[in-house]
Amino acid sequence: MPRLNSAPDLDEFRKEILTQRDPNKVSVAICSGTGCHAYDSEKVAEAFVNEIERNGLKGKVDIRRTGCHGFCERGTIVVIFPEETCYLRVKPEDVPEIVSTTLVGKKLVDRLLYEGDDGQKIVHEGEIPFYKHQSRIVFGNNRFIDPKSIDDYIALGGYSALAKALFKLTPEQVLEEVKKANLRGRGGGGFPAGIKWETTRNAPGDTKYVIVNADEGDPGAYMDRSLLEGNPHSVLEGLLIGAYAIGSHQGFVYVRREYPLAVENLDIALRQARWYGLMGKDILGSGFDFDVMVHRGAGAFVSGESSALMMALEGRVGEPRPKYIRTAVSGIWERPSNLNNVETWATVPLIINKGADWFRSIGTEGSKGTKIFSLVGKVNNTGLVEVPMGMILREVIFDIGGGIPEGKKFKAVQTGGPSGGCIPERFLDIPVDFNELTKVGSMMGSGGMIVMDEDTCMVDIARYFLNFLAEESCGKCVPCREGLRQMLKILNNICTGKGNEGDIKLLEELAEMMTDASLCALGTTAANPVLSTIKYFRDEYEAHIEQKRCPAGVCKALISYYIEPEKCQACLICLRNCPVDAITGGKNLVHVIDQAKCTKCGTCFEVCPPRFGAVVKLSGEPVPLPVPSGTKVAQRK
Ligand SMILES: Cc1cc2nc3c(=O)[nH]c(=O)nc-3n(C[C@H](O)[C@H](O)[C@H](O)COP(=O)(O)O)c2cc1C
Ligand code: FES
Repeated sequence: MPRLNSAPDLDEFRKEILTQRDPNKVSVAICSGTGCHAYDSEKVAEAFVNEIERNGLKGKVDIRRTGCHGFCERGTIVVIFPEETCYLRVKPEDVPEIVSTTLVGKKLVDRLLYEGDDGQKIVHEGEIPFYKHQSRIVFGNNRFIDPKSIDDYIALGGYSALAKALFKLTPEQVLEEVKKANLRGRGGGGFPAGIKWETTRNAPGDTKYVIVNADEGDPGAYMDRSLLEGNPHSVLEGLLIGAYAIGSHQGFVYVRREYPLAVENLDIALRQARWYGLMGKDILGSGFDFDVMVHRGAGAFVSGESSALMMALEGRVGEPRPKYIRTAVSGIWERPSNLNNVETWATVPLIINKGADWFRSIGTEGSKGTKIFSLVGKVNNTGLVEVPMGMILREVIFDIGGGIPEGKKFKAVQTGGPSGGCIPERFLDIPVDFNELTKVGSMMGSGGMIVMDEDTCMVDIARYFLNFLAEESCGKCVPCREGLRQMLKILNNICTGKGNEGDIKLLEELAEMMTDASLCALGTTAANPVLSTIKYFRDEYEAHIEQKRCPAGVCKALISYYIEPEKCQACLICLRNCPVDAITGGKNLVHVIDQAKCTKCGTCFEVCPPRFGAVVKLSGEPVPLPVPSGTKVAQRK
């Protein structure tokens, strides 16, 4: 292990690593992010080790277990460099063929390549539509780096921004560069990082703290997790630079306990950085001291809020406090404390290395740089995508996301996590940035993007998010605690056919009260899912309340399944699959659902062969009387 005592030491060490690495040497990157891990990526990696040895290629081919490549839906992802051949959905049993055909035979395994809509196979990762439209400046290095190897990070220029900051720039100059870049926080609020840093720097007191917010409580979001797991040094380097600019010597990473791989890789990264002299006392011989403690959070959504997070770091209950005095001035143990999100910190080294002007050249007037989104829901290509601020929603969902599965219609996209809003189809052409999303009643949040198709009930969606927030509210302030509970009660009533005239107005009044009077941003933004769905999908609320009808056919209490006697072919499929034996009939006998027994699980609807289409969902209309038992299919009129 080298101890790097100066910036030239770091440069020398980088050169040494690069001279030992032949850029033309074949290297196999196996995604070992959490998504691919679930697809058995470790077994894929082991199979590569064995096959490479068996084929006499040991030493001639490098194997690298990397962090998430983003296209998690197609895991396990394997990319072979230098050609950048990308294989998708690789299983351990595919590996012998990859090794013999591609590594030995220099040919392609066609069936593992991406297939475009026109049936054309795409070989190179960067040409796959999912990747082609992205700008992966923060996330893209994941695929080149074994997160457990600091050398991989250094080889790619890692820690050069730190060296530049420490030896070529004063703390004030670093601060000015970040301010000039107008880097806005990626964790939710979009507050300018440079201004927050300045507040903490100028706040009275010698002891200052810098913190990484890796709580990431939004359902479906895993951007921060994948960055920490896949490229932990980029976050640490950003934190070190921020600490230098602010005048802090102690940092914290608040990471949720449910992210064991992130914690593991972070711990390893910290140990390596300390060994190399990049963390601890007299960093790179600059005289600057800084170290980091990792705090594992207990997984409460509200603890991601800045003041709550700092309470938790102190060992107290992670609940928010009123912020008459901001945490940037009085945070952990009442000391000035600067909190930024994982992605915000990971962006800092790029700004220092490439300059604020470069960063400002990406994005829109008010939102610079890129943003990583977790694209999930009813979209063909789910995964993590990094796009320049200002890309329109349509491009993200259709060009990168590949559109809606099974040819269904797009209905809405929810951005901004549980407190975000649902954006309807007519706004698909708005640019994605902090300001534009807010204008249409949603927000950027930390980057959750949930796509919904025509089968989604928007009242049910509002209820889902409100239920999440009601469960996660700390209960400390009355408006949030009681407001959420009451709103949820009303939504439950509406979804179960007990909605009353006036409910929409009541929801709007409660929303206004919560927004005005709640203690923290959980409460002040909690009404967004309800308000945005009322605004854009009011007709669905009205149908539930007035006609007791769920237009999307989702709310169980408002739907019934019915077998159309004319279409039933007496194929027995629904009858055999019904888990509660609610279907009667037999060979040649029309099948009938006993409505009293039916639990509305929808199995009959799903298994009825599409060519028959005999099972239908009814909502807002009476179920026709059943045909007499024993009616033969041949006797149907
Ligand atoms: C209820 C609640 C939960 C939050 N959870 C997170 C989180 O998990 N991660 C995060 O970075 N910010 C979260 N935030 C935002 C933080 O309070 C804070 O604004 C952010 O970490 C600051 O970093 P940034 O300026 O880099 O975005 C949350 C806010 C609220 C109100
Ligand atoms: S975990 Fe492999 S692509 Fe995301």
